[in-house]
Amino acid sequence: MKEEKANDLFSTKVGAIAAAAGSAVGLGNIWRFPYVLGENGGAAFLVVYIISTILIAIPVLLTEFVIGRKTNLPVSGAYNSLAPNKWWNQIGIIGVLCAFIILSFYNVVAGWTMCYTVRSATGALQGLSEDAIQQAFVSLSESPWECLIWMVVTIVASAFIVSRGVKRGIEWSSRILMPLLLLLIIVVCVRSLTLDGALQGVQFLLSPDFSKITPQSIFEALGQSFFSLSIGMGTMTTYGAYISKKQNLTSCAFSVAFVDFVIAFLAALMIMPCAFACGINPGSGPGLVFVTLPNIFNAIMFGQAISFVFFLLLFIAALTSSVSLLEVIVAYFMNEHSFSRRKATVVSAILIGIFGTLCAFSKTLFGLFDNFSANVMLPLGALFIILFAPIILGRTGMRNELEAHGGKCKLFGLYYALVRYVVPIAIVIIFVNCIMSWMGVKIFA
Ligand code: TRP
Repeated sequence: MKEEKANDLFSTKVGAIAAAAGSAVGLGNIWRFPYVLGENGGAAFLVVYIISTILIAIPVLLTEFVIGRKTNLPVSGAYNSLAPNKWWNQIGIIGVLCAFIILSFYNVVAGWTMCYTVRSATGALQGLSEDAIQQAFVSLSESPWECLIWMVVTIVASAFIVSRGVKRGIEWSSRILMPLLLLLIIVVCVRSLTLDGALQGVQFLLSPDFSKITPQSIFEALGQSFFSLSIGMGTMTTYGAYISKKQNLTSCAFSVAFVDFVIAFLAALMIMPCAFACGINPGSGPGLVFVTLPNIFNAIMFGQAISFVFFLLLFIAALTSSVSLLEVIVAYFMNEHSFSRRKATVVSAILIGIFGTLCAFSKTLFGLFDNFSANVMLPLGALFIILFAPIILGRTGMRNELEAHGGKCKLFGLYYALVRYVVPIAIVIIFVNCIMSWMGVKIFA
């Protein structure tokens, strides 16, 4: 795994942040965040999401960076090397399983974006009425064979990138293409905000009705913050190994979280006003982005060209995230089973193709994988990571790693208290509270 030691490649701060942000920014921000927010009541969910990101997700992200950089190993080796022969060095394996589950539905959605790129190029969405736009999505999502073809294209593309080594592609995409995507999101946002009836969408997003907060929505906000930051399964541990000792980990973590949040927020600001303006239910589920955006493109100058570039960039954003997940699986086969990179990539791609096919054919399975990975597996993985770090590295070990660049970590006391007590307790409470509410027992809400 020598080639994985990428300190030489991500030696600049911008490079390291761009790479981690490339993993974080993806469908989670633009596809998942708006639809989960829409299903959970809008502004109140946004508030819970922000709190969960600051108090829970950022400390977990930082801890993953600490473990990764300390061991300088990708996830499957990192936990193992710090705690050999302890049962919880199996975090790496949980991460690999989780990557499988996420990739199975993630590639289906990435396939949808590819399909929408082609549809924009051929003008298939041009001038359609609101109903016809809805119908266009239904006809895609309900034809498993079509989903399957697009999904296979996505898997082959990501396998191709991974088989050649990820670094260069990811850095290029994050530094050049993602800023372009941000720019387009802003353009689309402006148009969406100026549609007739957009104000209601802004209100939905910005004026919280706290009575809408339920144990379930807190649970979903937690899961979404983990999914969006790619934490809880070791992807960011791997990226931590790529960050040079000279850099300030704390500021890297904040920068990644900031970029990730801004993109998610802008995505919601682009979608909600349009949804309200076009009479689309914001709680209409995973198709939300695909049934709203074409309406904006139809109402904008050069709409089809913008639509094409937009979906293409979204596809690339999905690809950089998908690659970061695939890399976890490939690294596992290479490290633990001594596969060559090529063989590891082919085997992983085939396995993901099989799981993905199940998701393309069954909406129930798709939903189950989506919810289970984000809301159950990632928080549990994060719980392990957060218990693991202070026990295995100790307070001093963590502090030394955070201050390895030669500066002081001013917030260390707060960070440590969060990691040691607040985060694990919060995850357990949110979990138990949600399960109780499913069973009809109310503890907090
Ligand atoms: N964060 C990515 C997104 O928002 C998805 C992703 C990539 C991910 N790697 C991950 C999610 C690891 C969870 C864990 O699209």
